[in-house]
Amino acid sequence: MKKQLVFATNNNHKLEEVREILGDAFRILSLKDIGCTEEIPETADTLEGNALLKARYVKTNYRLDCFSDDTGLEVTALNNAPGVYSARYAGEAKDSKANRQKVLRELEGKKDYSARFRTVIALVTDGQERLFEGIVNGCLVREERGTAGFGYDPIFVPEGFGETFAEMGTVLKNTISHRANAINKLKLFLDENDPV
Ligand code: IMP
Repeated sequence: MKKQLVFATNNNHKLEEVREILGDAFRILSLKDIGCTEEIPETADTLEGNALLKARYVKTNYRLDCFSDDTGLEVTALNNAPGVYSARYAGEAKDSKANRQKVLRELEGKKDYSARFRTVIALVTDGQERLFEGIVNGCLVREERGTAGFGYDPIFVPEGFGETFAEMGTVLKNTISHRANAINKLKLFLDENDPV
């Protein structure tokens, strides 16, 4: 029987990426699949803290093994902002386009466009909490390019490539991204430890 894990997200883009990266060995349930419709508090001031809050919430309230992902765009010239505040950078509406525009506005006149995505995955199972980090370095571009992906993808070019994540599409993104990186560490851990 397939191992079952909840992925504490309602973001369909993330869900698809993670299902594709983890492959067939796991049955991944979303928050919607388990009937969790309430907003899970994300009140920590680090990616690690928020990832743990989400996974612990599901484990405590639904008694299901769970992992969650918290991701931030860290821009060097902005002292690593927006970081943990990436979703609400331009306001509570969590508007991705407004967030991208705000980042680009704040970079106007600066020379250094280097940035990275950092994902932290928290896994909470019976008696175990583990964190897995994934990073992809790259740089931002002044104008949006591409239509695939989500969030900051249209303005981020990963190191070693000429296309933005939104131009390259999810198949290639899923082999090199911050999330792929972190999920592959999670997969290795699950394969070796079989905690579910
Ligand atoms: P969260 O991890 O869902 O809180 O995401 C934080 C912010 O980063 C949101 O604005 C997302 O749209 C954005 N984000 C998360 N993952 C990615 C990604 O893989 N590419 C581009 N933007 C992302």
